[in-house]
Amino acid sequence: MKAIALAHPNIAFIKYWGNRNHDLRIPVNGSFSMNLKGLSTKTQVIFREDLSEDKLILNEDEASGAGLMRVSQILDEVRQKSGINLYAQVISENNFPTGAGIASSAAAFSALALAASKAAGLKLDERALSILARHGSGSACRSIPSGFVEWTDGEKDEDSYAFTLAPPEHWDLADCIAVVSSGHKEVGSTQGHRLAETSPLQKARIADAPRRIRICREAILEKDFEKLASIVEKDSDMMHAVMMTSNPALFYWNPATLRVMQSVRNWRAKGLPVFYTIDAGPNVHVITLKENIAEVKKKLSHLEGVQNLLTATVGGAARVIEG
Ligand code: PMV
Repeated sequence: MKAIALAHPNIAFIKYWGNRNHDLRIPVNGSFSMNLKGLSTKTQVIFREDLSEDKLILNEDEASGAGLMRVSQILDEVRQKSGINLYAQVISENNFPTGAGIASSAAAFSALALAASKAAGLKLDERALSILARHGSGSACRSIPSGFVEWTDGEKDEDSYAFTLAPPEHWDLADCIAVVSSGHKEVGSTQGHRLAETSPLQKARIADAPRRIRICREAILEKDFEKLASIVEKDSDMMHAVMMTSNPALFYWNPATLRVMQSVRNWRAKGLPVFYTIDAGPNVHVITLKENIAEVKKKLSHLEGVQNLLTATVGGAARVIEG
């Protein structure tokens, strides 16, 4: 009745933005990501006789409201599948600073899906776990499998899941995250996915997605850094163009975000293997090769507005660490 699981966040190379089905979080386009080793969420789930409701403790603080409701929905699904009729205590901790602008929901919901199903005695395969995690947060389905991960959009609940395209050892990439703001986002991604369809640019972004996905897949399998760099930057810029032109508009960048983007492009033009990608926030993920981490971090630390730097290499699958 108790289990602990660990999962990494992931950074999307081809972004998920917009749903075909909001309740089930079935996306309008497929996406790609890399798991981030070094950053992780550890979640313990205990189903207990003495509880009269689910209890959630996030980084040592008791949580309620919308966050708890989202967790309870996943627990309900696990209770339904297992026949267990008990409330659960969930204790979740990130090893990266909260408010650092690192999407924590992917790691959180994949660790929760794994810990809750294990604690309930369910034997779910990777695909079923990915689908369960997706119900909590779309991008969480990509933190269940290992390494470089593809999420096929799918038409129905059961065919929208993520799988490994290549294991972590396939390519020594690294993510240097330039934190330029540690404030909380004003508009979270759940609401953002609903706004996507209000942008006239979203249709064009979706129509071109199969082409970007094909190029990204080839670039990863061929380990072609230049090819990956140009398609990932393009895809990130396209998502932000949709965000900026939705109604209401979402502007996540600040002057330091643009400074990092510009510098990364200049460094690449001069031969350094780097490219940027940005999620629903102002912080910039600067992707490079593992051997260039020190140089990239040094350069980033000199830029005005860069408050903090986090580093991650390619991470493995979500895993049970106790139970
Ligand atoms: O899983 P969500 O609902 O937090 O959405 C994630 C959205 C982006 O991070 C902006 C893109 C992505 O594919 O991870």
